[in-house]
Parts: sequence; structure tokens; C-alpha cells
Amino acid sequence: MVYRYDYLVIGGGIAGMSFALKVAGKGHTVAIISKTELDEANTRYAQGGVASVTNLEVDDFDKHIHDTMVAGDWLSDPAAVAKVVREAPGQIRQLVEWGVNFDRREDGTFDLHREGGHSEFRILHHADNTGAEIQRGLVEQIRSNPYIDIFENHFAVEIITQHHLGKVVTRRTPDITCYGAYVLDEFSGRVDTFLAKVTLMATGGVGAVYTTTTNPLIATGDGIAMVYRAKGTVSDMEFIQFHPTALYHPGDRPSYLITEAMRGYGAVLRNLDGEEFMHKYDPRLSLAPRDIVARAIDSEMKLHGTDHVYLDVTHKDPEETRRHFPNIYEKCLSIGIDITRDMIPVAPAAHYLCGGIKVDLNGESSIHRLYAVGECSCTGLHGGNRLASNSLIEAVVYADAAARHAESVIGGYELRHDVPEWNDEGTVHPEEMVLISQSEKEVNQIMGYYIGIVRSDLRLKRAWNRLDILYQETEQLFKASKPSRELCELRNIIHIGYLIMRQAMERKESRGLHYTVDYPHPENTH
Ligand code: FAD
Ligand code: SIN
Repeated sequence: MVYRYDYLVIGGGIAGMSFALKVAGKGHTVAIISKTELDEANTRYAQGGVASVTNLEVDDFDKHIHDTMVAGDWLSDPAAVAKVVREAPGQIRQLVEWGVNFDRREDGTFDLHREGGHSEFRILHHADNTGAEIQRGLVEQIRSNPYIDIFENHFAVEIITQHHLGKVVTRRTPDITCYGAYVLDEFSGRVDTFLAKVTLMATGGVGAVYTTTTNPLIATGDGIAMVYRAKGTVSDMEFIQFHPTALYHPGDRPSYLITEAMRGYGAVLRNLDGEEFMHKYDPRLSLAPRDIVARAIDSEMKLHGTDHVYLDVTHKDPEETRRHFPNIYEKCLSIGIDITRDMIPVAPAAHYLCGGIKVDLNGESSIHRLYAVGECSCTGLHGGNRLASNSLIEAVVYADAAARHAESVIGGYELRHDVPEWNDEGTVHPEEMVLISQSEKEVNQIMGYYIGIVRSDLRLKRAWNRLDILYQETEQLFKASKPSRELCELRNIIHIGYLIMRQAMERKESRGLHYTVDYPHPENTH
């Protein structure tokens, strides 16, 4: 089956939905596809909130810019940082117009939280489930917009370029162009052709590459893997952010997040003997940037031979704690931990990817007619490490930029009519699902053991050797099989693992989130 649209949006989180809402209804047709129901996305799980300068009595753009640059270990692109920080308040107004509610004080101003690395209270939030509120608001808008066609449980397998028209495409080809995507309809099992004048990649992050992650397990890096296979530019993949405080509850996958806002509220980290330890690592204590706190916890766990540390909020007023963190309170209570009386066992978990599909200030990728927004993109905002709560705001700011740019050029584009349909002649359904699930577990283990918080040349080399075997086996299986979501996701996490490993090998220094014992200092000064 062949579908034809002006805009194809791949992904139904904050990035994809806000782009779709901006371009819909101006004489152009829009399709939004999501591999699950629209409600399920990383966005829905965001807790802490959205960073934006709103309290001008104490805060200003320069402070937010400085905090972002410091957290990013001065690897952030200053133009991207200035853009996001300065355009943030306008995009907050847009979210509010779309019906998203942020908590307010009695005088009507926003109730602001503070998180690690922020010099001021500037995090807008909705209790401790800001993402669920954003997802709710945007899904309501999307479902009631008559100009947007929604395709749920549709899985994008590959983007379509000249390669599918029989042309040779290499990383040096200057004018690689995207004509849409091949998409697996999970109900019919058929791979359909979606042709579009403009395609937006908004497929989110890669947390599911690791065993221990805060991300929902749909975060398999599909968009980044597709763009890489289509010979687009992907960068900064070595910068994987581990959130310091995921709830330690063995058997839970994904891990439940204990928001950083809790440390902003006064919670302190303690080892299993109940002693504070952050003073040994950073003068900003529990509110140091995430890379430092995660490494400090990792070091304490190794020192004491334990699987977790504690986050202690028992000294705060119980009523206030329950009011600020109602969902965390309930979740912990459900496993027998009353956070107003008991310390919370926590450990770091893979949380966020700072790199991804390289884009310019308009959100345009190296592939013509293909934009990328949200966690799958690399705008340069985060540099070596993302400042807390800077990603939701990055997604809306860049969705706006991409929408404005695409609208200004789409008039010059035509749909291709010579794209062949997906050819799966001679392929069969893979019989042994266990082969796929076992390989997936192996990828997760390789990533955790060899490409985690602390790295070394030897570990990266081991990861390379092991991933290569899985890569060969999975490519053979893919060529012989009708695509299934499970097989495509396995293929994608292997490609993402390879990209993280290769780009980690190329960085011969410890910088931001990339820490290697072989080059412990920035710029190879050892
Ligand atoms: P997502 O919200 O992940 O959406 C991706 C979409 O793409 C989904 O609809 C998915 O179905 C679709 N998709 C993926 N692959 C395919 C495919 N092959 N075919 C079709 N569709 C596909 N950030 C903050 O700024 N503040 C916070 O407080 C915060 N808290 C967080 C807490 C948690 C627990 C987590 C996990 C993340 C948090 N983050 C936070 C990060 C932030 O939530 C994400 O970076 C952001 O939501 C990503 O949005 P997105 O639109 O790029 O992707
Ligand atoms: C958190 O609430 O700690 C997560 C915030 C973020 O990832 O930006």
C-alpha cells in the first residue's frame, strides 16, 4: 500500500507532536506515525520538568546559558544554546496555549523547582509527573486536529532515499534526499510505503540499549540507526547520560526514576553506612551536574562492593514531601518504602542520549528534506552532558524552528512517483523468537559491562569484538526474514551500540559524560 503526504512525522512524543501541530492545517497533509499507542513515549515519563527563564527578578538568559555550557563541559554549540534559552519562554507560552498545565503559586506565577547544575530555580513542572501532563495535552490536540492522520502501531523500518531507486549512495554523496519511509503496519504485517515531501525524525532516545535504564523499552534508537544506514551524519554518540538516582529495585526494567528535583528540594546521598559522601567528589555536593554525581555513586558502590546507595529525604517535612512528590511517594510505598521515614535505595541508570542525528539551527539533517528533532537529534545544545530539564524545551524550540523552515521550502518539493514498494520476496518469518530476545540481552550486557559510566580502550575493544558477531548474525537474519518489530529493534540497538562504541573510541580524552581510565584528563594531557 502506498500513502502520500506533504509531511511525514515519525514519532509521537513532544518533538513529533509539536512539529505536527505547527505544520498542520495550512493546506498541507500530515501523517504522524508511532510504533505504539500515541500515549506511550519517553515524554510521558519525564518527571522534573522544563527549564526556562521565567522569573526575571532573579534569573536571566545569561545565567541559563552559562549553566548549560558548564554542564556540557564547554563542548556545547553556543549558537544552539543561545537559541534554546532565548526562545524557551515563547515555547512555554505555546505549550500552555495547547492546554498543558504547569503548577503555579497563589499569585499566579509559575512554581519553580531547581535541579543539579542550575544556578537558579527555573524548572516549570506539573507535580512530579510533568511529562505525563505534556503528553496528555499534546495527544488531545493531535487527536482533535482534522488535518493530521494518526498511524499508531506503525513501525518505520527504513527511510527512502536514492538508494531505493537503484543509485549508489555513500557517505560522500552530497545530495542524499529523503522521499519518505517504509513502515511496518503491525496489524497487517505488511510494509507500506509512505511518500512525503518532508520527513521529520522524532523517534526519541536509546536507553533500551542498556539493561538498566529509566527509558521505556521502546527507546531503541530506531531513527538514528535508520539515518546512519542511509549515510546521514550522526555525532556525539559517546555522550550517554546516566541518571544518578534511579530506584534500585532488582527485576524492574525500566527502572523507576527518582527525580533530581528531590535533591534540589534537599534530599542527600548517603552510602550504605548512612554517611554522606558527595563532599569527597564535588563542592556542589548532591547538586553537582549529573555526570559527576553518577560517577561518584559508581565509585562509592565499587569501593563498598554494593549495588546501590541511598537518597535520604527523611529530614524534610513529610507533608511537604508528599505534596511535592506524590507519585514517587506512592511508587515507593507500593514496594514497602515510606520515603518520609525510610531512605530510598538508588543506583545510576542509562537515561539520555546527548548525541544523535546531526542537525543545523533549523533542525535539518545532512540528508535533504529530512529534519530531526528531540532526543534523536544532536543540535549541539548538550555538548558533553545535558543540563537537567533542558531536553523537553530543546524539543519544542527545535520543532518550531524545523516547522518554520520546512514551511518556507516545501513549495519547491514534489512527491516521487517512482519509488518501488518494499520487496520481501523469498523471505520468511523468523521461527525462533528466542534467537532475537537472547541476542538483545547480549547487546544489553555488552553495553553495560564495556561501555557504561567508566570506560577503557580494552573494554571498548572487547565490546567491538562481541558486537561484531551479533551484527553479522542479525544482518543475515534480517536479509532472510520478513521484518518484525522485534527483529528491526534488535538490528537498531546493535547499530546504536556500534555507534556509541566507535565514537567513544575516537575520543581520546575524558570529557563530559565520556570518562575513560586510559585518558583521564581532558584533551589527552596524561
Ligand atoms: P519520545 O517522547 O521518546 O517519543 C518517541 C516517539 O517515537 C514515540 O512515539 C515512539 O513510538 C516513536 N518511535 C520510535 N521509533 C519508532 C519507529 N521505528 N517507528 C515509528 N515510531 C517510532 N527531560 C526533561 O527535559 N525534563 C525532565 O524532567 C525529564 N525527565 C525524564 C524522566 C524520565 C524517566 C525519562 C526517561 C526521560 C526524562 N527526560 C526529561 C528526557 C525527555 O523525556 C526526553 O528526552 C523527551 O521526552 C524525548 O522526546 P521525543 O519526542 O524526542 O521522544
Ligand atoms: C529528573 O526529573 O531528574 C529528570 C530530569 C531530566 O532528565 O531532565
